[in-house]
Amino acid sequence: MSLKDQVIADFTQRFGAPPDVVVRAPGRVNLIGEHTDYNEGFVMPLAIDRHTWIALRPRSDGTVFLHSMDHDASCTFGLAQLSKDRGWQEYPKSVAWALHDAGYTLTGWEGTTICDVPLGAGLSSSASFELAIAKAFAEVSGFPWDAPKMALISQQAENQWVGVNCGIMDQMISAVGQADHAVLIDCRSLEATPLPLPSGTSVVILDTTTRRGLVDSAYNERRQQCEEAAAFFGVKMLRDVTLDQFTARADQLSDTTRRRAQHVISENERTVAAADAMQRGDAVALGQLMNESHDSLRDDFEVTNQELNEIVDRSREIEGCLGARMTGAGFGGCAVALVQSERAADFVASVTAAYHDATGLLPSAYVCQASDGASVVAR
Ligand code: GLA
Repeated sequence: MSLKDQVIADFTQRFGAPPDVVVRAPGRVNLIGEHTDYNEGFVMPLAIDRHTWIALRPRSDGTVFLHSMDHDASCTFGLAQLSKDRGWQEYPKSVAWALHDAGYTLTGWEGTTICDVPLGAGLSSSASFELAIAKAFAEVSGFPWDAPKMALISQQAENQWVGVNCGIMDQMISAVGQADHAVLIDCRSLEATPLPLPSGTSVVILDTTTRRGLVDSAYNERRQQCEEAAAFFGVKMLRDVTLDQFTARADQLSDTTRRRAQHVISENERTVAAADAMQRGDAVALGQLMNESHDSLRDDFEVTNQELNEIVDRSREIEGCLGARMTGAGFGGCAVALVQSERAADFVASVTAAYHDATGLLPSAYVCQASDGASVVAR
């Protein structure tokens, strides 16, 4: 049974009638542009064909009731007095809080949710949950859907309520994703430019199955180092420093700060170059830029782990692989490879075997399709 059928069946059984509406929002994989979003730089992710689904109907008592099929648990909260707690129910609460804070008048609802974005794998299951919740509120409360604004509100929910200091990439792509396209996002203006994947190529997600430890503190430390570097150059964000400006004064920075800044500044240039390559349909150039991105994240930004390096190295040895790199925050989780479509099935089998031989771990590798951002799928 599809997730859509499952969520509808659970809703119908639980509430005694079919849902009024079904919404979903996707997870993401980032092709290139890593650790650039919080420097107001460029990213180029795609929304993947894995989603958080919610089947729901409005309630008239200002209350939200949500059953999670994944957690086999339910939560309920009143919109009038939201209070912080811990656990998965903080995501719906956080979005309710941020929407209210932005001035929206909210209607309550009841529903069921299910998700096939793997949790904690670095594919933005949290952002997909947040955007699905925002979409649910938009539907029952009847306010217009402004995708970048909903992304900002969801980011605020995650930053200020959940307490994770993420950038805007994950929420933006879950909101603005487009089927068969990656999206170049300017994280300063939030301008989003969909770009078709080069013909004859496929995107393969490679889950190392290692999970990120201490990621929040390492992530925050990187952010701080980027801010220090920006302050040194007298600009608001590293986005404002060109590679030439950097090179001219790089020797005055401490070794660590210099390498962190080198990554961000060069990654912004690579991401813009990758968008050019996409526009030309130049898959070879795109793959090469992805390789360079990984090397920079490994050597200068230092956010890979051994397993990410292993799966990327093994990928690059396989025929038909045009480029491979870690994706997301790093320290574990997933890599992404661009491969020739005709070789994609062989690639998945070969990389699975090679990574297993090298590490003893069984990765999960699959071809993904770029999908649309948060949307209503049934009424
Ligand atoms: C995480 C964050 C994003 C972004 C990436 C790194 O996924 O949520 O905002 O910073 O790491 O590119």
